[in-house]
Amino acid sequence: MKLPNIAIDGPAASGKTTVARLLARRLGLVFLDTGAMYRAVAWLALKNSADLSNDGALTDLAENCDMRIKPDDGELGYALELNGLDITARLHEPRIDQNVSAVAKVSGVRRNLVQRQQKMAENGGVIMVGRDITTVVMPEAEFRYYLDASVEERARRRYLELQQQGESITEAEVLEQLKERDYIDSHRSDSPLYLAEGVRRFDSTGKTIDEVVEGLSQECLQLLKGIG
Ligand code: CDP
Repeated sequence: MKLPNIAIDGPAASGKTTVARLLARRLGLVFLDTGAMYRAVAWLALKNSADLSNDGALTDLAENCDMRIKPDDGELGYALELNGLDITARLHEPRIDQNVSAVAKVSGVRRNLVQRQQKMAENGGVIMVGRDITTVVMPEAEFRYYLDASVEERARRRYLELQQQGESITEAEVLEQLKERDYIDSHRSDSPLYLAEGVRRFDSTGKTIDEVVEGLSQECLQLLKGIG
């Protein structure tokens, strides 16, 4: 029996990654954070001092890297190895936040990472989060959600996270960076972020993560029961 797949998209800091990780634990599904894969290519590009406006060079990096994602007990729930090096702790550095959307709008990079993602989901049982999961990677997923929240609330959440990590940045700066990333992600020509027909929008403004997880898991459990 093939388990269902769950696809979740949404703008930056909408809580989708945390929600999906908890949901995966609760439902016994595998969690895959596709943002980490784009972040890994951005990390590699910065490490190699690649020209971020050179689509061919960025595509080469994506096509020729050995990327492995393994379940892990740490806070993120996974570890990402790139060319044999564990770079999980580097993926959320502010310099990656600031450059990842430029890398992610390159079609060659997307083509390669989407292929890898589709392969990971081919046997079912995966909860995947990103920007194009409901529309391009798994438009056939049994459950498709768009997790949203107001930009001010998202900026507040991300600011608190960064403060905990000891980063010196103001809430106003975080808000500006989120707006910029959202703009690039939703206006790029290849696979932009949007709420597609048939995808359920879930607004988490004013809700706790637990409330969102509870709401989604009730729906998903119904489906899993129906299949089991
Ligand atoms: O966690 P947060 O929402 O801040 O970002 P993320 O999910 O880690 O994604 C980082 C960036 O990768 C996004 O801003 C997009 O530019 C890109 N991305 C994408 O283009 N397609 C995906 N499926 C996932 C991420």
